[in-house]
Amino acid sequence: MDVLVINGPNLNTLGTREPEIYGSTTLAEIEDGLRAQASAAGLSLDTFQSNHEGEIIDRLHAARTDGTRFVIINPGAFTHTSVAIRDAFAAVAVPFLEVHISNVHAREEFRRHSYLSDLAVGVMTGFGVYGYTMALDYVITALGTAGD
Ligand code: DQA
Repeated sequence: MDVLVINGPNLNTLGTREPEIYGSTTLAEIEDGLRAQASAAGLSLDTFQSNHEGEIIDRLHAARTDGTRFVIINPGAFTHTSVAIRDAFAAVAVPFLEVHISNVHAREEFRRHSYLSDLAVGVMTGFGVYGYTMALDYVITALGTAGD
């Protein structure tokens, strides 16, 4: 798969979860939209959601050998807690974008720190679910021009 989209804990509840913060779009709708966007650009895209830190790490390790060229991740609350997911990205050395639906800088203080942002190519935060579309748009451009 060219692009791997990972969503972390609680993002399986999008649609009903705190809609005033996260909107009403479900994760299935987001993933369907991203698959269509990738396919229109001639790229393959895989999706993965887990509420378990170790499963996300295992999926990242698999990305080392399954042909993944770019990862788009919304790590959910693991953003602010997980040295282990940070270490997995460092180990796998795959380029990635970090996405947050809400503007994490406009919320509680503990959401302002990310263990991943300094390793990421870039961060989208506060654009609602459109952040995923923007991220994939960037990846399509980056992969399209790779090697030029
Ligand atoms: C989130 C922001 C995180 O702080 C939070 O724990 C989430 C979702 C976002 O998409 O805005 O679960 O990553």
